[in-house]
Amino acid sequence: MQLSPLQSRLVATVAASCLLVLLYLTLSSPHFALAAELDNGVATPATHLPILDDVTILQDRDDQEKVAVEEGGENDAAEAFRRRAVAYEPYFGLFDRGIVGRAPAGVTGLANNVPQQLNLDPSTTQVYVFEKIQMFGRREAPASRIELRDELGSERETGQDGELDDERASLLPRQSSKTVFISANTCMQPQLKPDKTAMDPPQLTMYVSNTSKNQSPGPKADPSQQTFQVFQEGAVMLNMTASDDIFIGISAPNISMDFTGIWNFELAVSIDSWYHSYNNDIASDLIWVDSDASAALLITHNLTQSTDPAVSDELMSKQPYVMFAQNDKDKSINGVRFSYCGLQNYAQIAATKNGKFTNMVLTGMTKRGQGNLPKQEFYFMGLNSSSNYQGILAKSGTNGTAGSGIIGGGGHIVSRATQFNTKSVGGNCEIIFNLTFCNQTAYAVPSNPSKFTNVTNLAQFYDNLASSAYDNFKKVLAQIPCEAPSTERYSLARNCTDCDVAYKNWLCSVTIPRCEDFSVNHPWLQPRAMGQPFPDGTQLDAAAVQPYANFKDQAAYNNSRNPAIDAGVAPGPYKEVLPCDDLCYNLVQSCPASMGFSCPMPGSPGFNTSYGRRDNELDRDGDVTCNYPGAAHFISDARRTSMPWGLFFGMSGVVALALL
Ligand SMILES: *[C@@H]1O[C@H](CO)[C@@H](O)[C@H](O)[C@H]1NC(C)=O
Ligand SMILES: *[C@@H]1O[C@H](CO)[C@@H](O)[C@H](O)[C@H]1NC(C)=O
Ligand SMILES: *[C@@H]1O[C@H](CO)[C@@H](O)[C@H](O)[C@H]1NC(C)=O
Ligand SMILES: *[C@@H]1O[C@H](CO)[C@@H](O)[C@H](O)[C@H]1NC(C)=O
Ligand SMILES: *[C@@H]1O[C@H](CO)[C@@H](O)[C@H](O)[C@H]1NC(C)=O
Ligand SMILES: *[C@@H]1O[C@H](CO)[C@@H](O)[C@H](O)[C@H]1NC(C)=O
Ligand SMILES: *[C@@H]1O[C@H](CO)[C@@H](O)[C@H](O)[C@H]1NC(C)=O
Ligand SMILES: *[C@@H]1O[C@H](CO)[C@@H](O)[C@H](O)[C@H]1NC(C)=O
Ligand SMILES: *[C@@H]1O[C@H](CO)[C@@H](O)[C@H](O)[C@H]1NC(C)=O
Ligand SMILES: *[C@@H]1O[C@H](CO)[C@@H](O)[C@H](O)[C@H]1NC(C)=O
Ligand SMILES: *[C@@H]1O[C@H](CO)[C@@H](O)[C@H](O)[C@H]1NC(C)=O
Ligand SMILES: *[C@@H]1O[C@H](CO)[C@@H](O)[C@H](O)[C@H]1NC(C)=O
Repeated sequence: MQLSPLQSRLVATVAASCLLVLLYLTLSSPHFALAAELDNGVATPATHLPILDDVTILQDRDDQEKVAVEEGGENDAAEAFRRRAVAYEPYFGLFDRGIVGRAPAGVTGLANNVPQQLNLDPSTTQVYVFEKIQMFGRREAPASRIELRDELGSERETGQDGELDDERASLLPRQSSKTVFISANTCMQPQLKPDKTAMDPPQLTMYVSNTSKNQSPGPKADPSQQTFQVFQEGAVMLNMTASDDIFIGISAPNISMDFTGIWNFELAVSIDSWYHSYNNDIASDLIWVDSDASAALLITHNLTQSTDPAVSDELMSKQPYVMFAQNDKDKSINGVRFSYCGLQNYAQIAATKNGKFTNMVLTGMTKRGQGNLPKQEFYFMGLNSSSNYQGILAKSGTNGTAGSGIIGGGGHIVSRATQFNTKSVGGNCEIIFNLTFCNQTAYAVPSNPSKFTNVTNLAQFYDNLASSAYDNFKKVLAQIPCEAPSTERYSLARNCTDCDVAYKNWLCSVTIPRCEDFSVNHPWLQPRAMGQPFPDGTQLDAAAVQPYANFKDQAAYNNSRNPAIDAGVAPGPYKEVLPCDDLCYNLVQSCPASMGFSCPMPGSPGFNTSYGRRDNELDRDGDVTCNYPGAAHFISDARRTSMPWGLFFGMSGVVALALL
């Protein structure tokens, strides 16, 4: 574009005017800066600081600054705002720390619970300061003062020095020391060059100094005047008791020839609690319920032990956790496992608000499982078959609210990852859950993709199978005098409700078999339907059947437990995790003898092919040795109630119960 001489002159004039205004701003006019700060900064915590804090902290400053305060008037109001600007807007050149002249240039101020994010080149250190005002200012100021916030300027200008002195005096004794929580997360890290062999990226280091003698903590500073902590898996947490400014240096190492790129980290300081955190709290880790060739179901532990409906309803209305999942073969999260923003960037699947591949995961609340207490469940789809995964549970922030200014807003990682794996391709097991009648059922069941293209329909099939059997039971139960006085009831210890519950638990477990790949060889697994074809038409080869040759005459080896499954699903050969024998004993104990229920005794014919037994030793490895409502892998640290075994076993009706 060409400018006419007149236009050129206009441009020059405007430019000159701008420069003048800028010069004017820089040198003399706090008024404009003040206005700008008020307009822009109303919503930031900065303007919520009572002016008094600035006065109290100024007391400790050098004489020159003190003089400025004593002069009172507009200049020190401007100074106050400049301080806030320093604390909250480190890159705003006009209010650079260099001008204030206290901390070295390039030192960034930190505010309570407000994270600072920065790129960091290898072999460099970034220094931050968490000022005393952030520790003692806001909290300890009297309420009446806080109300004055909005009229900061006018209040200062009218100058009520005497009153301020009193306030100052009453505040000082309270300013002793405070615990300060310093935490940081690595959000980005250098990446391995493609031609290099796998190794984990180097970690950042945090240096902390609480003495003004060392205002630039880092690898080159005096080690006696600082402490340091190397990041662990992309996270660092350091608490200390502080009474004065704290200086923090985040330092990046020199990277080797194997890596390329920079770091990006987020640092936050809090006087309330950790902004970023991770822990090894075993009680809050994740339970792998079951998986099939392409999906996996995981749940949290009970989110409460309270049976109070109000507590439970409150929990059921929220989804407190998020989750990350990673194929073990993919090393991208190495080095950032304990970092929320790092996992968000690098994890393969991030079941978070803005996470990656959220279409691969469904999450919701459930009360399934023993105790019927609230839990959160995660259902992952589209996973690779025969693969090992790790699931990492996390919270995006405290109480579901995350972000700057919120206590704990930087996220929390449960650092003990949960391992889970998927079944083999071509397998015929598929996870079903969220059933209407068998609402405790959530595991892989024998399936046939050519008959059930959709897992909802498969779940429906099994649920109907169980609920129609239950209808018959209800008719029998209706003939029992349940409401009779206790002397006339079938048992002093049990009533019809107990019988109903016991029957339903038993029924759902025996009607809906828990399925394992045929190729898995655990001693407690019962092979089924070995003579039948797989859904793709293939048969087991002779070698696979060979180990079971001795049992060929047993019906259990050539059929599913329930003929309706062979007819309706025709899954072909699979292995079954048998229902736990205590489900049967409990049924016999809970229901009237007239109903004729009985269980096979351990060691008797039919027991081994009908029921499994709980085996705590094996459970500890995460294996489910028998199936019961709420059974899952890796649940062992939760105590189970053991059933009292009575002497109720009769031999009549064994076959009916054993094979349904
Ligand atoms: C820092 O945290 C640890 C563990 O949480 C605690 O034992 C210690 O007392 C804390 N230190 C301070 C100074 O608060
Ligand atoms: C600085 O930290 C050291 C060790 O943690 C402590 O002994 C000292 O009192 C602290 N100084 C101040 C001024 O907080
Ligand atoms: C980093 O290390 C390399 C070789 O180990 C060295 O040549 C280089 O000078 C180092 N850089 C810094 C900034 O220390
Ligand atoms: C299970 O069903 C409930 C409602 O019936 C729903 O809220 C929840 O999201 C479902 N769970 C999954 C993982 O689909
Ligand atoms: C399952 O269904 C029964 C009644 O059919 C109900 O009492 C129970 O609360 C349900 N449990 C879950 C976890 O939905
Ligand atoms: C939930 O609590 C119940 C009752 O206390 C307990 O039996 C069950 O094992 C717990 N479940 C989990 C997953 O911790
Ligand atoms: C599945 O495997 C492919 C090839 O190894 C890999 O690229 C992909 O990330 C894997 N997907 C999942 C969800 O593990
Ligand atoms: C989180 O919620 C709990 C209970 O609802 C409450 O006690 C706690 O103060 C809350 N924490 C924050 C930081 O809001
Ligand atoms: C399964 O199919 C039924 C209809 O047959 C449909 O209503 C349902 O949404 C499907 N579910 C899924 C997960 O595709
Ligand atoms: C059956 O007994 C249980 C305790 O074992 C009790 O909570 C329940 O109310 C009883 N039900 C009936 C119908 O009496
Ligand atoms: C097993 O089942 C298949 C198909 O139903 C049948 O052809 C075969 O004869 C059965 N074998 C035995 C030993 O019952
Ligand atoms: C049942 O299994 C147990 C151990 O698994 C074994 O010792 C016993 O011999 C088996 N009984 C029959 C009848 O197969």
